[in-house]
Amino acid sequence: MAVVRSLRQVDADHAGVDIAFRADVRAGLSQTPKAIPARWFYDATGSALFEDITALPEYYPTRSETDLLIRHAADLAAAIGPGRAVVELGSGSSAKTPLLLAAIAPAAYVPVDISGDFLRDSARALAARFAGLPVYPVEADFTQRVELPGEIADLPKLGFFPGSTIGNMVARTAVDLLRHWRGALGDGSLLLIGIDRIKDVGVLERAYDDPAGVTAAFNLNLLERINRELGGDIPVENFTHRAVWDDVHARIEMHLVAACAMDFTIDGHRYHMAAGETIHSENSHKYGARDANLLLRAGGWTPVATWDDTDPAFALILAAATAFRSAP
Ligand code: AVJ
Repeated sequence: MAVVRSLRQVDADHAGVDIAFRADVRAGLSQTPKAIPARWFYDATGSALFEDITALPEYYPTRSETDLLIRHAADLAAAIGPGRAVVELGSGSSAKTPLLLAAIAPAAYVPVDISGDFLRDSARALAARFAGLPVYPVEADFTQRVELPGEIADLPKLGFFPGSTIGNMVARTAVDLLRHWRGALGDGSLLLIGIDRIKDVGVLERAYDDPAGVTAAFNLNLLERINRELGGDIPVENFTHRAVWDDVHARIEMHLVAACAMDFTIDGHRYHMAAGETIHSENSHKYGARDANLLLRAGGWTPVATWDDTDPAFALILAAATAFRSAP
């Protein structure tokens, strides 16, 4: 079966610009310190740059996770069982998905991604590879309420949330998201989630500040995107990329650093930046084994299996929707 039906759940204005993007940029650049949510990296250019990042020798998460999916395919199949609707949050290029789908004999595949063109291309390629598997792409921000296709309503679900994307959220937002998807996927559902581990600071910082400058280009594309879509006049050449480990929050922070004082205009609004001031563009939280299990439990998911034996360390955790009952 091919791609069955595409759903678009994004509010765009008359120019086709995502209304939430405009609002987030305005609010984020009006506050101190300046910050823009990381989800806005992923326009077509940003999604392609992220694919380039996953091929960098320094960026280990994609390779580690792929390796785990390959090596533990039989264990995964035994733990998950056949006949589930796989709902993938932030599917992107769906590069790792075939490994999972080939292992578990699913009943349907629902990729959810904010980057519509990217989503449709990869859904088509995937449907061509798995004849007989119904594919229902949903163009949506998975951190918001997503309406799942009615066709999968009665199927048991497997949420698939790879790439350590959960790391982009602060703890409170991560717990909200996990709780939301616990409810949306329902009783009896499972979640397979990729979580990056805390490790050597040098390994972490090189993964987010590669010598080839691909991550810098990915970060700076956020400013280019603002100029392109919101008619901004940000002098992008006045910014540099910074990625640093924050040990208190156990996260890599990415910033866009103003090399000099400047003024620019977006949407008719003027903004000022002092030399050295930054726009905080991403957090990438890392988790120890107990941290990850606590996060999942707080979000309504009970960890049932962990596969995490690669170097650099990265974990694939299978969790079951926690049954709600009173407990000590
Ligand atoms: C795909 C969101 C998990 O945080 O590691 C890669 C994004 N940012 N390099 C990550 C990213 C800079 C990536 N996630």
